[in-house]
Order: sequence, then structure tokens, then C-alpha cells
Amino acid sequence: MDTTISILIYIFLFLTTLSSYPLMRKKKKKTGSISELPPGSMGWPYIGDTLQLYSQDPNIFFAKKQNRYGEIFKTHILGCPSVMLASPEAARFVLVTHAHLFKPTYPKSKERMIGPSALFFHQGNYHAHLRKLVQSSLSPETIRKLVPDIEVIAISALESWAGGQVIINTFHELKKFSFDVGILSIFGQLEGKYREKLGENYCIVDKGYNSFPTKMPGTAYAKALSARKRLSQIVSKIICEREEKKLLEKDLLGYLMNFKDQKGQSLTRDQIADNIIGVLFAAQDTTASILTWILKYLHDDQELLEAVKAEQNAIYGENDGGKRPLTWAQTRSMPLTYRVIQESLRMASIVSFTFREAVVDVEYKGYLIPKGWKVLPLFRNIHHNPEYFPDPHKFDASRFEVAPKPHTFMPFGNGEHACPGNELAKLEMFVLIHHLVTRFRWEVVGSQSGIQYGPFPIPMNGLPAIFWKQPSSPKQDALLSHEA
Ligand code: HEM
Repeated sequence: MDTTISILIYIFLFLTTLSSYPLMRKKKKKTGSISELPPGSMGWPYIGDTLQLYSQDPNIFFAKKQNRYGEIFKTHILGCPSVMLASPEAARFVLVTHAHLFKPTYPKSKERMIGPSALFFHQGNYHAHLRKLVQSSLSPETIRKLVPDIEVIAISALESWAGGQVIINTFHELKKFSFDVGILSIFGQLEGKYREKLGENYCIVDKGYNSFPTKMPGTAYAKALSARKRLSQIVSKIICEREEKKLLEKDLLGYLMNFKDQKGQSLTRDQIADNIIGVLFAAQDTTASILTWILKYLHDDQELLEAVKAEQNAIYGENDGGKRPLTWAQTRSMPLTYRVIQESLRMASIVSFTFREAVVDVEYKGYLIPKGWKVLPLFRNIHHNPEYFPDPHKFDASRFEVAPKPHTFMPFGNGEHACPGNELAKLEMFVLIHHLVTRFRWEVVGSQSGIQYGPFPIPMNGLPAIFWKQPSSPKQDALLSHEA
């Protein structure tokens, strides 16, 4: 039944797209005298290049296009005519210097699922207000207080993986870790019953998010929409409780609840819920994906792993063999580990590109980007361009001993929608890597080469691995006795 409906919808969209092709040509003719559309192929009607984009290795897909057409090319993905831009200048043009000509854009089905009032979907005053609140709750001054709690979450996750000597799906487990840290930064210390309910329902939303968007009862998408409603209700209950107890917390929920605009207007419950779920959503898969890649890269390069261990063991020693908690200052002085994180963000480029939509006809370098077309700055291509990163397919953390050229390294985006959670994401990585390499070891099961989407690119099969708690090594003992 589901499949029949999907086919009918696809046929409908196919026909509407076919009928819109002549209009697209007209647009070109009308404006052809001033500028023309970028080179490129639109692929099959409706489907365009969507299948290739989501089935091929992203490095191969983008490189092929760029080699053939250059740094600006047109294509057709996810039902939309689009222009892809693969140069740092073009990315800056779209995201920073001419950001007012482009608006954020997401498929309606995804917007409905996250919540239409979430900051991603907005521009102007509303976006600026919300961004300030989200940024304050995720600023270094705020998150430095979270180090001990993130440590507890990291240690408990690692202990649970190493407990049974069973094969762990690393990505799935890291999703639980990043979810728990997300909850901590949004709600502070949240009662267990709420954490569990949020977790259960969020899982259902997560499963339905990438499924075919039909509201037919019983489908993953319909179940996800119901779970999404329940998430809003749970957030409402937590807000009520805080209001009754007159709690003034300095977490994201606290910032959102206390906000008043110039006219004294507060945010509605729906606006608060949409933004909370939006932040959770932005925080979970991204951080889990990159951490999974880091575990793979370290596993595949034992020499690098030993060097990272040495850096972390020195800190472990300073802390009396983990008897004292990590400090914020320690997480700021892990230079090699930081380079490994940066190189992993570059190599994996988990956010390969972002989407905007031209709000007017835009001319860029003699090419026309018609109003309504999607515009995709390609972070991955920039991160894999040998002009900025020599030998780009080689993992080489030492390349970050020198700062990359300006605007060539954008794992967290650029401009007014750039990631406000980047400091928290890095903190999570530092804390997890510290405890992982000082007290555990891991073996990847099978030869896990290749990439899979989950929805960001992740190592094949989520990197199945076995984790062990390791006895302290003679080197660690020596360090500890030296410290004593
Ligand atoms: C390694 C992990 C992460 C990566 C690679 C990442 C990447 C990005 C990128 C590239 C954008 C910009 C998207 C665009 O311009 O369209 C973005 C936006 C955003 N990220 Fe992250 N992110 C990560 C972790 C986090 C975390 C941990 C949080 C929150 C706790 C977070 C919250 C957000 C939010 C709220 C936005 C939307 C900002 C806006 O529209 O103004 N992210 N992220």
C-alpha cells in the first residue's frame, strides 16, 4: 500500500516537473542576455541527480561534477533545480556577504517534524533573538561548568560498551552519548522519568525523519509525527514544573523561558518546544558521526593513536590517574587531539553541503541563479581541494599545525547560521577521547571500508567494534608514580 502511494506521488511529481521544464527554459531565455545558467546536467526529471548523490561515495559524486563543469554547476536534486558552488569565495558569497539574497530552506516534511518555529528555518529579527539565546546557552562560559557531568556521561557509556565484550554498533552508541549531552545542555539535571520519555519519543521521531513523508497510519513518518507531538507535551510539562517551582536555570530551556522581546512578548510553548527539539536534532547525529570517524581514523593509524594516548596519559597522570576530574583548562590544552579532531572534520566533512534558496534572481560570476532555485555551498569539495589541503584524501593531522587559508575550513558552516554548538561538540570529543584512550581499547570488527549515510556519512555499518577496559600500562604507572 505504502509503495503504491509512493509510486503515485512520484508519478505526479514527475509530471509536474516535466511541465515546469519549459518554464525553466523560458526563464533562461528571458534573462539570457544578461547572464546564463551555470553549466551542468539536470539529470532525470524529478529524480535528477538525487539517487547518485545519496548512493555514491560523496567524494566521487562531487569530484566528478566539479572536474566536468568547474566550481559552479547546476543540477537537480530532491525535486529542485539547484546550483552547487565549490569555491570558498562562492560559499562566502552565499553564506556571509550576500546572505540576504538567500534564505534557509528545508523540505516541508522535515520542517514539520522538527517544528516550524525552530531557528534554522528563519531569518531576520526572530532568528537573531533565538540565535542569541542558543549561543548564550552553548558559549564557553556556560559549557565549561558542564565538564564534570559530560565526564560522567562519557565514562558510563564507555563502561557499558566494555562490559559484555560484545560487538557494539559504535555509531548507535555514540548517538546515545550525544543525546545525553544534548539533554544536559538543554535541561541541566533533568529528572530520570523525563529523560526516558524524551529518549523513547525522540527515537521514534529519528526513525521517521528520513522515511517517506506520508501520514498514512502505521507508517514510520506518521508514528514520528505522533511522537513529535508527545515530545512537545513533555517539554510543556517540564516548563510548567519550572514555573511552579520558580526555578531560574541557566540552561537553554531557562534562556528560552526568560526571553522577552522589545515589546515584552515571551516565546510561546510551541516556539520553545520547536527550538529545543531543533537543537537536540542538530546536536545528536552530527556529533555521533564525527566521533565514529575519529574512532575509525585512530584505530586505522596505531602510531597516531599512541601519540594521542601519550598526550592524554600525561593529563590522566596530572589528575592522579583519573581520581580528579578533567578541568576545562585541560580540555583546552590537548593540541594533538585537537588536530586529530580538525583533520577528522575535514576528511569526513559530515555536513557535505548546506541548502539555501535564492529569494531573487542573483548573478554570480556571470552566471544566473534564478529566484527559487536551491543553492548548495559544497563544504566537502572545498575541504578536499588540493589547492587548500595538499594530498586531500590522506589523513594527516599535522597539516593543522598551520592554520588553513581563511574561509577554506568550514566544518561548522559560516555566517549567521553557522553552528552555535561547535564548542560543545568539541568539548564532547575531548572528554570522550580522553577517557577512551587512557582506559579502554577497541578493535573494529571486519574490514569496515566505505561510507554509509545515517543520515550524515558514517563508516560502513556504523563501525562495529569490541571495547575492552585496559589495565593501566607500565607507562601510565610510571607517570602516576612520578606525579605522586
Ligand atoms: C561535530 C558536530 C557538529 C557539526 C559538524 C555541526 C555542523 C553544523 C553546520 C555546518 C551548521 C550550519 C548549517 C547551515 O548553515 O545551514 C550547523 C548549524 C547548527 N548547529 Fe551544528 N554541528 C555540530 C554539532 C552541534 C551541536 C552539538 C549543537 C547543539 C548543542 C548544534 C546546534 C546547531 C544549531 C542550533 C544550528 C542552526 C543555527 C542557525 O540556524 O542559526 N550543532 N551545525
